[in-house]
Amino acid sequence: MARKKIIAGNWKMNLLPKEAWELVDGLKEGLVIKPLVEMVVLPQTGLLSLVGELLQDSVISLGAQTSSKYRNGAHTGDGSPDLLRALGCRYALSGHSERRQDHGESDLEVAEQALSQIAAGLKSIVCVGESLSEREAGSYKEKIAAQVKALYSTVPKELMGELVLAYEPIWAIGTGKTASPEQAEEVHSFIRSQIAALAGEAVANLTPLLYGGSAKADNAASLMGKPNIDGLLVGGASLKSDEFLKIYQAS
Ligand code: PGA
Repeated sequence: MARKKIIAGNWKMNLLPKEAWELVDGLKEGLVIKPLVEMVVLPQTGLLSLVGELLQDSVISLGAQTSSKYRNGAHTGDGSPDLLRALGCRYALSGHSERRQDHGESDLEVAEQALSQIAAGLKSIVCVGESLSEREAGSYKEKIAAQVKALYSTVPKELMGELVLAYEPIWAIGTGKTASPEQAEEVHSFIRSQIAALAGEAVANLTPLLYGGSAKADNAASLMGKPNIDGLLVGGASLKSDEFLKIYQAS
């Protein structure tokens, strides 16, 4: 079975309601659907109801940028994955490096968050990746292996099919510095081998692996041309409908 391809736009903490409305409008208007490629947008939490409503007559999927590791209860300020599902989300990110950095989310917490997202009926896009110093020291594979291991030791086998992984080298996020297709493919193939060792070949072969870090219209096709790159997680370039549509078309 061919792996699903996903082009996801991480809007981060950007856009007010009117701007989100305009962006979604532009995407809906310009989208030429490719049946094997799913487009996903990931607005900040406060925009989810609005964007969910705007997407109701569209094939574009909705996702969230994070959620609590708890499902509900006394966790003031946290966001329940069940609520995300009820608002129409199909996906949620877990462990974006900005969350790991700004909120001290550990590998284990990220894994627990992913598990509670899946338990709530979402597909979890779990981000992994190394810093510049880890890349330069040559320790990036150990870092990523630990992140992947925590995930597959926490999520039970029967739910592993709901996971998507995103390789996002921290040094490439928002810097304009993209990993070369060869660098990205090397890590993607490493991640797939780690999943195979922890969860078996079947799970590894079916798990979509996205690349993120300054993905743009002019590098999308060469990245997506690699055998283990099944999609892109796009930050800055997902905030303009023309550019994001070009990335989608290039995939
Ligand atoms: P970028 O962000 O495309 O702006 O580098 C990617 C991400 O952080 O998901």
